[in-house]
Amino acid sequence: LFSAIELAPRDPILGLNEAFNADPRTDKVNLGVGVYFNEAGKIPLMKAVATAEQLHQQAQAARGYLPIEGVPSYSSAVQKQLFGADSGLLAKGLVVTAQSIGGTGALKLGADFIRTLDSSGVVAISNPSWENHRALFTAAGYQVQDYRYYDPASHGLDLAGMLADLEALPERSVLVLHACCHNPTGVDLTPADWAQVIALVERKQHIAFLDIAYQGFGDGIEEDAVAVRMFADSGLNFFVSSSFSKSFSFYGERVGALSVVSSSAQEAERVLSQVKRVIRTNYSNPPTHGATIVSTVLNTPELNAMWQQELAEMRNRIKSMRELMVQQLKDKGARQDFSFVTGQCGMFSYSGLSADQVERLRAEFGIYAVSTGRICVAALNLNNINAVTDAIVAVSGT
Ligand code: LMR
Repeated sequence: LFSAIELAPRDPILGLNEAFNADPRTDKVNLGVGVYFNEAGKIPLMKAVATAEQLHQQAQAARGYLPIEGVPSYSSAVQKQLFGADSGLLAKGLVVTAQSIGGTGALKLGADFIRTLDSSGVVAISNPSWENHRALFTAAGYQVQDYRYYDPASHGLDLAGMLADLEALPERSVLVLHACCHNPTGVDLTPADWAQVIALVERKQHIAFLDIAYQGFGDGIEEDAVAVRMFADSGLNFFVSSSFSKSFSFYGERVGALSVVSSSAQEAERVLSQVKRVIRTNYSNPPTHGATIVSTVLNTPELNAMWQQELAEMRNRIKSMRELMVQQLKDKGARQDFSFVTGQCGMFSYSGLSADQVERLRAEFGIYAVSTGRICVAALNLNNINAVTDAIVAVSGT
């Protein structure tokens, strides 16, 4: 049966973890995967999470099946975080949310559901985008195309190119849009840019699918929701995939959500019934632990405040690492000007390093990054940053 089967290539991001773990060097640094490490180089267990977990352990709750769409109090907390506690859409019952297996699971649920709708069958993703977007939508049966996004010359957004490419797509194409902290470039749209995109989406009847996996890592929970809120105000139907992997440091718990905005409460009910069908035929219903903990934290004012404080510390530490990295590269006489790194937001820097330079970082210095030059700034700390900037200077020249 398997004699002719080919070996699949390693995943471009998670495959780096496999290679990193197998590397015997003790001074190795993993700047590949999008994971926040604290100053001590560890993935933190947030205090708000640990407190909620203690409460649940004491309660000794049974583990029955969840409803197909997940923990209800979790879904309502997700909706408030995305759309705002005072959102008119929520008051009118226009939004339905299903708990998902991480943000990736939310994308797949949405992809499978949209296949049942009247779409062009084309999905457009930014160039560049998170590596798994293309693979996921291709596997779900779509034709995946790029739209221009990042301008390497300015290290900024190519808005004109983006709008032209979105315009050229067939009507009713699915647009995957990074709502904040664009992965991998860290370059986001301004509210004025979003207004232009929204007008185009409306005119071309495109189907917007906002991916928001890093809410809170840009400027704050509310600030980072601006694109979602603007789409909500537009009156369009759209999709949102969200994740707590990063903001709760909850990677292995796989806690995400798919939210869909409909035009009426009746429509929303029918949409949810179809999303539930997709869930039931894939994995039946979601796991209890992670979403219950997130719900407890978000719905308990003291824990919510504690979590927001911890998230702000993570965000600020990443910003300070950006500044230190740029300063060190300058002080060490790097040939290239890396000052653009401080203007990027979220966990990543799209460093401009070539695939060959990234390979040299790995081979010669034990520093792992994605071959596109994406490095995870959230994995830098005062103990490893010197070695990292030395190595970047060594491979990129002085
Ligand atoms: C990343 O981009 O590194 C993260 O989103 C992890 C992943 O699943 O790829």
